[in-house]
Amino acid sequence: GKIPATLIPGDGIGPEITEAVVQILDALGSPFAWDRQLGGMAAAKSEGDPAPKALLDSIARNKLALKGPLTTPVGGGFRSINVRLRETFGLYANMRPVRTLVPGGRYEDIDIVLFRENLEGLYVAWEHYVAIDDDPRAVAVSSGINTRAGSRRIAEHAFEWAVRHGRKKVTIVHKANVLKALTGLFLETARDVASRYEKKIAFDDRIVDACAMQLVLNPQQFDVIVTTNLFGDILSDQLAGLVGGLGMAPGANIGPDAAIFEAVHGSAPDIAGKGIANPLALLLAAGLMLEHVGKEDLSKRINKAVDVVLNKDLVRTRDLGGKATTADFARAMIKRLK
Ligand code: NAI
Ligand code: MG
Repeated sequence: GKIPATLIPGDGIGPEITEAVVQILDALGSPFAWDRQLGGMAAAKSEGDPAPKALLDSIARNKLALKGPLTTPVGGGFRSINVRLRETFGLYANMRPVRTLVPGGRYEDIDIVLFRENLEGLYVAWEHYVAIDDDPRAVAVSSGINTRAGSRRIAEHAFEWAVRHGRKKVTIVHKANVLKALTGLFLETARDVASRYEKKIAFDDRIVDACAMQLVLNPQQFDVIVTTNLFGDILSDQLAGLVGGLGMAPGANIGPDAAIFEAVHGSAPDIAGKGIANPLALLLAAGLMLEHVGKEDLSKRINKAVDVVLNKDLVRTRDLGGKATTADFARAMIKRLK
């Protein structure tokens, strides 16, 4: 039988790229039986809730989801739905791999996997304002939380993955020189974990700002990175930039009880509805999902076809300097997979 999985088309370019990915997976012989659910602004409009019960129930039941981007308005009353989903399902590990898919860009042979702690740090968003005189919002305060248990869990996940996949080195990224408690505890705990893996894999650590510079100067020195929530969010977009942009970067949110796969990018309102979005990031996320359920063979076939479509057929969307539409890319992939 097929594997039941929740499918959330999402907002902005979400429905366009989701449609393309579903068609491509069908051509591959998709093992998934999709349970389509509304989420994000689409759900807020029709159900009055961006994360409706039907959606949460579906993910709880299937423990597996492919999610299009969800719009979170800046400011306003909405808490990020992405953050809510991660918290609801305890998805503590966010894996964001990037590799060079289109040669001839700024960098060659990039193959970096970033693990981001997904539930703690500054993204707990324990925020409030303090009034001074007649200004009720004269001061903004935000507390970050890192726990030893949470730091150990993400570090173990990253080291375990790195060893299992034959990687050479794990770099722990932090800002322990300034945030001595918040990221000092993360560094200390991750180093403890690293010492247990000493015989199996090398490790080092970097301060986040220096790491950001090194990623531009000499990205090939990095292999696997493990870091806290905010730094991971920022560095993973930077990583996407090293390989051609957000259209190329998939992500997996993994916890003991569920896993949600998505693109790193957002709903791209500037190009939504034009049929020109790159569905590749979501397709690669579907590839990670296939690996997660033990279908490495299918994931490999996707990767092979992607290479042929991008570099032999030269079917590339605009973000990669090409002229292809979302549908052109899907058609080219389907042709190569059949
Ligand atoms: P964004 O990632 O949506 O867009 C940034 C830039 O990259 C835009 O110029 C966009 O056109 C381009 N881009 C993104 N994905 C692309 C694709 N597949 N193909 C071609 N070009 C692409 O980031 P932005 O504008 O900051 O956020 C828009 C909305 O998305 C916000 O509401 C934000 O909260 C939400 N968001 C949701 C995420 C999620 O659901 N996981 C992640 C990041 C942002
Ligand atoms: Mg982000």
